[in-house]
Amino acid sequence: MEFSEVIRTRRSVRWYLDKAVPMEMIHRILEEASASPSFMNSQPWEVSVVTGESLAKIIHLYDTDKEYVVPIPWPQEWPERQTMLVAKNREASGKRVLPESGRGRWNYNAPVIVYLHIHKNLNEWSIFDLGAFAQSTMLAAVNHGLSSVPQARLVMHDTKIREILGLGQDRKLILGITLGYADWDHPNNQIKSQRDNPENWIATHN
Ligand SMILES: Cc1cc2nc3c(=O)[nH]c(=O)nc-3n(C[C@H](O)[C@H](O)[C@H](O)COP(=O)(O)O)c2cc1C
Repeated sequence: MEFSEVIRTRRSVRWYLDKAVPMEMIHRILEEASASPSFMNSQPWEVSVVTGESLAKIIHLYDTDKEYVVPIPWPQEWPERQTMLVAKNREASGKRVLPESGRGRWNYNAPVIVYLHIHKNLNEWSIFDLGAFAQSTMLAAVNHGLSSVPQARLVMHDTKIREILGLGQDRKLILGITLGYADWDHPNNQIKSQRDNPENWIATHN
């Protein structure tokens, strides 16, 4: 696939087919994503690939424990431009069709969650690096015929998820990315996000 096609094809997919993803493909995607740049080449990413029984445990946790912990707080006040964009996002998310519980509710029926985590001593630079790593992962996924959605929601049980994954207290979960084969006929996947006009955010200086 042409690179420009890959970058334009990636979008958050919010319903997946009941079709397993080969583990070798996930490892290949992650290895490709590790070509991402990082602060002093510190490569802060560590990844837990979750499927099967472990995925079922995490979904059960979300079904039964509603005491969410937000590891990175929301902005206290959105700036003006973001207020408008976030409002549009809320309107679109209100149209999603989701079951009350289970994998469909929390994980849009995806068979895989890839958890990205860093050592707790690392700071914003490493979270920046994880952003680059996450995007590379999602683009590599497209190139291998898969779809994804990055999900802050999937790290909102930090301590209990770390217990399920056997991660120590020195690890900090940053993001969960669902991976799978898109169900393109599902109504959730008919909703496509829009982008702000570049005139609103590019300034040129000669
Ligand atoms: C850090 C981060 C956290 C996100 N968390 C969620 C989430 O919890 N649930 C969700 O459905 N989408 C989540 N998203 C996806 C965004 O809503 C999505 O990227 C945005 O609306 C643009 O749409 P697109 O990805 O289809 O281009 C998240 C995206 C990022 C980058």
